[in-house]
Amino acid sequence: MDEVSVLAPATVANVVCGFDCLGFALSEPCDEMTVRRIDTREVRIINRDDYGLPTEPEKNVAGVALLAFIEAAGIDFGFEVEITKHIMPGSGIGSSAASACGAVVAANRLIDDRFTKLELVELAMAGEALASGSRHADNLAPCIYGGFTLVRSTDPLDIVEIDFPSLFATVIHPQIEIKTSEARAMLPKEVPLKNAIRNWSNLGALVAALAKADYGLISRSLEDTIIEPLRKSLIPKFDEVKGASLQAGALGGSISGSGPSIFMLSETPESAEKVGEAMSAVYTTTGIDFNTYVSQIHPQGIRFV
Ligand code: HSE
Repeated sequence: MDEVSVLAPATVANVVCGFDCLGFALSEPCDEMTVRRIDTREVRIINRDDYGLPTEPEKNVAGVALLAFIEAAGIDFGFEVEITKHIMPGSGIGSSAASACGAVVAANRLIDDRFTKLELVELAMAGEALASGSRHADNLAPCIYGGFTLVRSTDPLDIVEIDFPSLFATVIHPQIEIKTSEARAMLPKEVPLKNAIRNWSNLGALVAALAKADYGLISRSLEDTIIEPLRKSLIPKFDEVKGASLQAGALGGSISGSGPSIFMLSETPESAEKVGEAMSAVYTTTGIDFNTYVSQIHPQGIRFV
């Protein structure tokens, strides 16, 4: 086998009260990636989309992850990677994570799955560091494991897979740019203890509620008293979108990643569709272009095709 193709899904991280730790995988959109073994110990990038991402491996998220992979595997050959991105860079739904994870998962298949999922997340973190300047794994973990994951620690890396019931996500992506590095720079170094208590209480409850399929408790736990109040100022009409979504039947939601996307969770696909309509109704008044996605929370991460 000299070539492996994968679909690398979009992911939502910072699941409300789970900033930098809780994430989940969507069914779509997905990036299409094919990784081929080449005889020379180097990485070659072929972009098959119009995003104009760099082709120098050191400047490309998939390239950096593959360079780390080659180093860790100690192999004397390299890889060519062909990428068709469907997850728009900078959308806040794990575009860079999909590129990094798709590359290392496909390359791993070419060396008989030598690395574990945990090790692959560790290698893909090199890509996230290039994209945002910080080694976070909250999008990488669900991209590789699927479903809901919690990153308990990044050093050493410790990932917890969370049981979850049938859930649907609605995402609206306003076409404005928010740089993750800037959205991180605006966060406080310290938080008041009462806000911290509220958030870790909500996060514990949310994880328990997901495992018990307690939709009422899921809804009550989807509350963030630390990050959302600050970052929502970056997203036009955030409060209106959230309010209309809750009124349309959403369980709750917040900013996806560092934005500009906003996501909402629903118990049924019908409700998720209604939430999409409510979000769109708010955004059509802004004059800002936007896309919406409705997707099941997908139990599998990267899929081989
Ligand atoms: N957890 C990160 C942040 C994810 O919100 O800064 C960004 O993709």
